[in-house]
Amino acid sequence: MKYLIFVTLFGLLSFAAASVSDLRMLTWAIRLDSKPDSISVAQTIAGLNSSIPSDEDLTGSYYNDYKEVAWSTRRIALANEILFNKVQIFAAQGGLTRQISDLSTLLGSDWSYVGVGRDDGVSAGEWQVIFYNTVYITEIDSDHFWLSDTPSEPSKYSGAGSIRMATRGKFKLVADESAIFTVFSTHMDDVSDAARELGASLIRYRAAYEAYNTDAPVFLLGCLNTEPDSSSDDAYEIATGHSDIVSINATFSSTFSSAIKSSFYFLDLAEETDADMRSGHHSTVTGWTEPSDFSYYERTSFALGGSNGGWIAKRYRVGENFFDTEYHMSNHRPLYVDVSIGL
Ligand SMILES: *[C@@H]1O[C@H](CO)[C@@H](O)[C@H](O)[C@H]1NC(C)=O
Ligand SMILES: *[C@@H]1O[C@H](CO)[C@@H](O)[C@H](O)[C@H]1NC(C)=O
Repeated sequence: MKYLIFVTLFGLLSFAAASVSDLRMLTWAIRLDSKPDSISVAQTIAGLNSSIPSDEDLTGSYYNDYKEVAWSTRRIALANEILFNKVQIFAAQGGLTRQISDLSTLLGSDWSYVGVGRDDGVSAGEWQVIFYNTVYITEIDSDHFWLSDTPSEPSKYSGAGSIRMATRGKFKLVADESAIFTVFSTHMDDVSDAARELGASLIRYRAAYEAYNTDAPVFLLGCLNTEPDSSSDDAYEIATGHSDIVSINATFSSTFSSAIKSSFYFLDLAEETDADMRSGHHSTVTGWTEPSDFSYYERTSFALGGSNGGWIAKRYRVGENFFDTEYHMSNHRPLYVDVSIGL
């Protein structure tokens, strides 16, 4: 009998332990396809040189090819970055329809995504997509909204440079269906402080609703186009609860009202990760510059976790966007976070 109790207890304990799972998420502004061509993925792959060059061959050629190259070239390296690093959630900002389609091809049939083109809510313009690896993750539901005064329709905030939106996906783990989490992917405006402040307010308000209703982790992944210490722009401060949200659309406000609508905020996973587990670069933007040119460097991509908790930040890394014999995969760097969920 004692033995039986021990075995049962052990079984329960190991079951409880197994429900804590690690999740690797990536956020990356991949830059739109600004040099479109009609080269297929298969043609690009067929054109790769399978020989390994000698060190002598490369003398004087490291980091030479720093200017923007066509998406058809960038896509191979970019997809490899995701596959090699065993990413499970990939929030990609700024891709056009062809890029989303190419990434689906290159990532392979294990991958799926949620998201739409921001200009029409279907396929026009840049996407704020969330790719997920279906070996590990199942989609529960998803939607999107615009960072404007009419959030439920394709629309541009007055004074913003572009139409801006956020994509929301609710997911669960294949290995533990009780481990639910929500991800927002966004790319905030590059021109208007007020547009970013509204965007941060809408996302924080909506994230509170998800946090309250799922009682599970909520993450915001994206390029906020703002710096944490900006004097003119409070978007980061609003997202992280250091400033109050600005006035938002009344329909949105009543639809997504929750008991924690005022108290919920996001924490920066860069800060939440222990210092010895942070690695890589500081800046998430490099521009298409020589490695010695730091004039565009800034930290504007973020991975944020909801104040309702249910997660632990384990590792944080700003990775590489330019390898020595290659080219910039994007003018932004990839930002990886490992979190534990299912706590
Ligand atoms: C392929 O790479 C090898 C080794 O660097 C080089 O000698 C050769 O010229 C390359 N071929 C083409 C077609 O670029
Ligand atoms: C709020 O948003 C809805 C849907 O996008 C829109 O129909 C409505 O006019 C907006 N309200 C105001 C006051 O702008």
